[in-house]
Amino acid sequence: MAVSISRVFFILCCFVTSEQQQILRKEAYETVPQLVSSAGYPIEKHRATTSDGYILQLHRIPAGKRIARKAYSAKGKKAVLIGHGLLGSSGDFVIMGPEKSLAYMLADAGYDVWLTNFRGNIYTAHKNYTRNDPKFWEYSFHEHGKYDLPACIDKVLNVTGLPKILYVGYSMGTTTFFVMASERPEYNDKIISFLALAPAVYLSHLKETVEWLLKDLNILDRLKNRGLLSISIRREILDVFIRSMCYSKKSKDNVCMSIVYTFVGEDDEQYDQEVAALMLARIQPASFRQLEHFAKIAMTDAFTSWEDGLWGDVKPYNLDNVRVPVTLLYGMNDQLTEKTQIQRLAGKLNATGVLDEFRPACSWRKFNHIDFTFAYDVGMLFNKPLIKTVGALFDKYG
Ligand SMILES: *[C@@H]1O[C@H](CO)[C@@H](O)[C@H](O)[C@H]1NC(C)=O
Ligand SMILES: *[C@@H]1O[C@H](CO)[C@@H](O)[C@H](O)[C@H]1NC(C)=O
Ligand SMILES: *[C@@H]1O[C@H](CO)[C@@H](O)[C@H](O)[C@H]1NC(C)=O
Repeated sequence: MAVSISRVFFILCCFVTSEQQQILRKEAYETVPQLVSSAGYPIEKHRATTSDGYILQLHRIPAGKRIARKAYSAKGKKAVLIGHGLLGSSGDFVIMGPEKSLAYMLADAGYDVWLTNFRGNIYTAHKNYTRNDPKFWEYSFHEHGKYDLPACIDKVLNVTGLPKILYVGYSMGTTTFFVMASERPEYNDKIISFLALAPAVYLSHLKETVEWLLKDLNILDRLKNRGLLSISIRREILDVFIRSMCYSKKSKDNVCMSIVYTFVGEDDEQYDQEVAALMLARIQPASFRQLEHFAKIAMTDAFTSWEDGLWGDVKPYNLDNVRVPVTLLYGMNDQLTEKTQIQRLAGKLNATGVLDEFRPACSWRKFNHIDFTFAYDVGMLFNKPLIKTVGALFDKYG
């Protein structure tokens, strides 16, 4: 398997033509602050340091595009903090540009927008460990929830002077919130309302797939035995990969997207080759434990903490500790965080009286897991109505 993959790469390297090298636009390599600046928005970088030594860069868009030309001020604004998913970063909410991406649209609607970066991605570091140190990678979303999100919230409150903010989480960014509420319930008091996009809490529908990957293929152990510290792909290899196998007009002819669609749900109409290339080029590393922790949740039918590992005891997080109003939005064709699983979460939150709403994210029937950030029409289909929801939540609870 490994040998044949290296061979494929070798052959691909030999066939990359100069023409193909134009494929990746400059957006593929720019940092989030560079992207936001070139889009004409104000951008600030802030650092949050966690109690276990990780240094996280928060990105803030404190005002909209028009206001940016004059002196802007975020004083008196309502703040929204957005938490990204697995393999993601703050970039996921700006990469589609001002017409389509959530962070810009919220800023233009008058909000003070903050984007998290959870430990592991390129905007994070550790006080004592380099990224080559195995200790740097010893975390899952348990630590994102217990340390990273609280540190980010405290930073936002400190800089803005606000008593409370609204949190929007996407996929693992929701898992993170539920872990935080369970482990650090005092943080409920700092949140107005929680808007959960494609929440990843119950994953029982993936049980068989996960068991096959872990037990039959033994996939993670094989990677670890090759001395890998994290799941990440070398820049040069990724570029070659995107140029040769991941770039085509139709998603059907695109090996990468065919694989992605088997996991997240197919949605050809919302596929755009430029966006797909950008998305793949900007993929962030993941730790083994992040994947293993999700796998444990899928295999045990429980929203369990990590405790003593993949095959260790099951100790469910306490969802009764969630004390803020929660809105759950699902994609009708999302195969990764499926409606039935989110419905189970809805039932649980409804029982303690914190469920505000449980509904489809939008009217598009093929809306899949990655459409939440990367659908061709994500601006009109999803983000525009979402801004109304944000406004309604502030009116109701803010
Ligand atoms: C980092 O190293 C210093 C000095 O050795 C130590 O005092 C501190 O506890 C370490 N912090 C973390 C979070 O590991
Ligand atoms: C922010 O943190 C600093 C340093 O800890 C503190 O002096 C300041 O009072 C805080 N500001 C607010 C508004 O909480
Ligand atoms: C929540 O509970 C109420 C009554 O207890 C019920 O009418 C409603 O259908 C429930 N909603 C969901 C989404 O489970």
